[in-house]
Amino acid sequence: MNLKGKNAIITGASRGIGKAVALKLAQEGVNILIAARNQETLDKTVAEIQGQASGKVIGVSTDVSQLDDLIKLYEAAKTQLGNIDILVNNAGVSSQYPFDKQPIEDLERLVNTNYLGYVRLIRLVIPEMIAKKSGAIINMVSGSTLVDPVPRTFVTYSSIKVGLRAFLKGLFWEMRDHGIKITSILPGVVATDLTDKLNDITQDQKDRLMSVDSVVDMVMFALSVPANACPLELAVINQQTPWTKPVIDYAQQQAK
Ligand SMILES: NC(=O)c1ccc[n+]([C@@H]2O[C@H](COP(=O)([O-])OP(=O)(O)OC[C@H]3O[C@@H](n4cnc5c(N)ncnc54)[C@H](OP(=O)(O)O)[C@@H]3O)[C@@H](O)[C@H]2O)c1
Repeated sequence: MNLKGKNAIITGASRGIGKAVALKLAQEGVNILIAARNQETLDKTVAEIQGQASGKVIGVSTDVSQLDDLIKLYEAAKTQLGNIDILVNNAGVSSQYPFDKQPIEDLERLVNTNYLGYVRLIRLVIPEMIAKKSGAIINMVSGSTLVDPVPRTFVTYSSIKVGLRAFLKGLFWEMRDHGIKITSILPGVVATDLTDKLNDITQDQKDRLMSVDSVVDMVMFALSVPANACPLELAVINQQTPWTKPVIDYAQQQAK
């Protein structure tokens, strides 16, 4: 895909992985609309990216767990950018606990943000992509879905991501017939605010986190393959992390 002049929505782009992806796309000349809940952080990120972008950079305060917000987000994108060529579904929240200690209200928040937030926005964007017979939808899933059974303390987070991954895999084949590319990105543990909140992680554990750049590279790869090809799933995992020793230690979480 020649990226210059294309229009993209990136959710959860005020910080972390989403912000790094948004910056890279803006530097490539893509007009971007970025979404997140906190207006102040969003405004700061918009200003920061605008300084390095050749196209439009718009911020729309959105809670992706709310259908009304997603509808408003999509309407703003259509009005301010036009047809959407790229959707990067990335906004996500974490909640790492042994299940018996997990706050019960976190369950709904995880489903509504990390599953419905993705699926509903795809449902809103896809009719125009089908009409154009083109479009790319990149989804930040999780490397934890590669582990079976899903890792301890990640049981709800990861199983919801497993469901998301299954949905996207099925959608890949359905949308392929319409010329639309669906890609799932499965990153290992990345150094962002989301992992900072995992609290009390040691220097050794920090050294085993990946940088956001590795994830940006995967997104750019997905957008740079020839028109007749599409990566269904891309996983990037830290080489130094022993498979049997997760970055987030169960005993640490159990002791919370
Ligand atoms: N970091 C990792 O190790 C890792 C590994 C695998 C997969 N992932 C996935 O990658 C994605 C991004 O993670 P990250 O590490 O970059 O997280 P992060 O640093 O915590 O950033 C999350 C972003 O999403 C936004 N967000 C959160 N809830 C939202 C909501 N309900 N509506 C709209 N925006 C929302 C946040 O802004 P506001 O708080 O202002 O809304 C922020 O911009 C997530 O889906 C995560 O599950 C992360």
